[in-house]
Amino acid sequence: MKRIKIRQVLQTQPQEQIITIKGWVRTFRNNQFLSVNDGSTLNNLQAVIDFENTPESELKRLTTGAAVSITGKLVASQGKGQSVELIAQSFEILGDSDAEKFPLQPKKHSLEFLREIAHLRFRTNTFSAVFRVRHALAFSIHQFFHERGFVYLHTPIITASDAEGAGEMFRISTLDPKNPPLNDAGEIDYSQDFFGRQANLTVSGQLEAELGAMALSEVYTFGPTFRAENSNTTRHLAEFWMIEPEVAFNDLNDNMDLAEDLLKYVIRFALDNCAEDIEFLRTRLLEEEKQKPQNERSEMDLVQKLQFCLDNSFERLTYTEAITILMESPQNKKKKFQYPVTGWGTDLQSEHERYLVEKHFKKPVILTDYPKHIKAFYMRMNEDNNTVRAMDILFPGIGEIVGGSQREERLDILEARMKEMHIPTEEMYWYLDTRRFGTAPHAGFGLGFERLVLFVTGMTNIRDVIAFPRSPKNCEF
Ligand code: 4AD
Ligand code: MG
Repeated sequence: MKRIKIRQVLQTQPQEQIITIKGWVRTFRNNQFLSVNDGSTLNNLQAVIDFENTPESELKRLTTGAAVSITGKLVASQGKGQSVELIAQSFEILGDSDAEKFPLQPKKHSLEFLREIAHLRFRTNTFSAVFRVRHALAFSIHQFFHERGFVYLHTPIITASDAEGAGEMFRISTLDPKNPPLNDAGEIDYSQDFFGRQANLTVSGQLEAELGAMALSEVYTFGPTFRAENSNTTRHLAEFWMIEPEVAFNDLNDNMDLAEDLLKYVIRFALDNCAEDIEFLRTRLLEEEKQKPQNERSEMDLVQKLQFCLDNSFERLTYTEAITILMESPQNKKKKFQYPVTGWGTDLQSEHERYLVEKHFKKPVILTDYPKHIKAFYMRMNEDNNTVRAMDILFPGIGEIVGGSQREERLDILEARMKEMHIPTEEMYWYLDTRRFGTAPHAGFGLGFERLVLFVTGMTNIRDVIAFPRSPKNCEF
C-alpha cells in the first residue's frame, strides 16, 4: 500500500479507512501507544498497537528511533492531544534502533549536546522545525525573484579572484602538499597546479553576477560561499549561503527598496506557511528566555518580532548620522561599549549595530554611505570622495544581515580605486570590461541566508540553522 505522509493523515477526515504510514518511533507507552514522526510535520501520529496479539519479541523492537511501517485503520482519537489515531492491523520494523545506545532520549537535550550529534539532531522537534522553516525561506526567495523576472545565475564556487578583496579564502589545489613544485624564486609554482594558477573557494558570487546583470538586467545568485576568517562567533560560519541580487539601472535607493521588499516577503511567507513550526519555536524561545534575568528578556515574542518587522519601514540613515548617535549614546559616554566609538571613520562592531537597532531605533535599520576605507573596492564613490554608496541592513538580535552597494560603473574611478587598494587590474580585465562596453549604473547586495534563518526561527547560534556547520576546527560529519 502506498504510504501517506503524517502531515496529510492529520488533516484527513477519519472514516476507518485503511492507510499505511512510515516513520521513526518517538515513544512507545504502555506497550500500546506508539508515537511516530516522519518529518512532514512537527506532530506525531499515534498508532495503537494490538499488544495482545503481537509476540513479545516484536513489541520489544518498537524502541525510540526505530524505523517502522504501519498499516491500520484511521479513526477519531479517543485520547487527548490528537484528532486522529491509527489502529494498527500490522506493522513492520524497517530498521531496529538500539535503545540503550540511541543518544536521543524522550527528554530535553541542550543545543550544545545536539551540535555534537548533528547527524541525528534532525530527529528532534526543534531541528525538524528549523529545517522546514529554512526550506520555506529558500523556496520563497526563489519565488520572490521569479515573480519579478530575475534570472537565477549559478555563479562559480571555484574562482581565481577575491571578490571582497579581503583575502580570507580557502585555497584549492591538487599539488602534493609534501612535495610541491617550486619556481626559481623557491615559491610554490601554481602554474603546475590543476587550474594553472592559484584558485580558491569563492567568498561571493557578486562579481560574476555583475557580468550577468549587464546583459540580463536582473539576476541573482543563491549559493554557498566560503570565508577563512577565524571568527568563532554565533554569527559566523566558514561555509554559509548567500543570496546576491544584482540589478542594472538600479541606484542605492532602488537597492534598499529591493532588499526591504525581499526581507518582508520571505518573513511573511514563513509566517503564512510555517505557522505550526514558528509557533513551536516561539514557545521554545519563551522557555529559553525564562532562564535569563528579567531585564535581558526580549520585549516581544518571536511572532510579534516578525510581525513588527513587516509592519514598520526600516529606518534609513547615513553612517555619519549613525556615528553621531553612537558618540552621544549613554552607552558610549559611560564606556559600556567594548570598542568605544571614538569618531568618524571607525568601523562599526556588532555591539554598535545592535545598539542602533535594539536600543535607539527599536526597528531594522539601513545604514548608507560608509567611509570608503572600510568598504570594498567596487562601491560607488560619492561626490565627497570620502564615502561610498554602501548599505548595510541591521536586524535586531542579529546585527548585519545584508551588505550591499551601488557599484562603481565609471571605469577611470574604478581603476584608480583598485590601484589604491592593490587589486590587480590586469587579472580583473573581465570585470573592468563591463565598464568598457556599455557600462551602466547598477546595484546589488548580499543577504546572509543563515542570518535570515536565525532571525525567523529565533535560534541564537548560527550553527543551529545549517545542517552541518563549518567553523574553525569544526568539520565533522
Ligand atoms: O557584507 P558581505 O561580506 O558582502 C558581500 O559579500 C557582497 N559581495 C555582497 C553583495 O553586494 N553582493 O556579506 C553579505 C552578507 C552579510 O551581511 C552577512 O549577512 C552574511 O553575508 N555573511 C555571513 N554569514 C555567515 N557567516 C559569515 N562568515 C558571513 N560573512 C558574511
Ligand atoms: Mg558586510
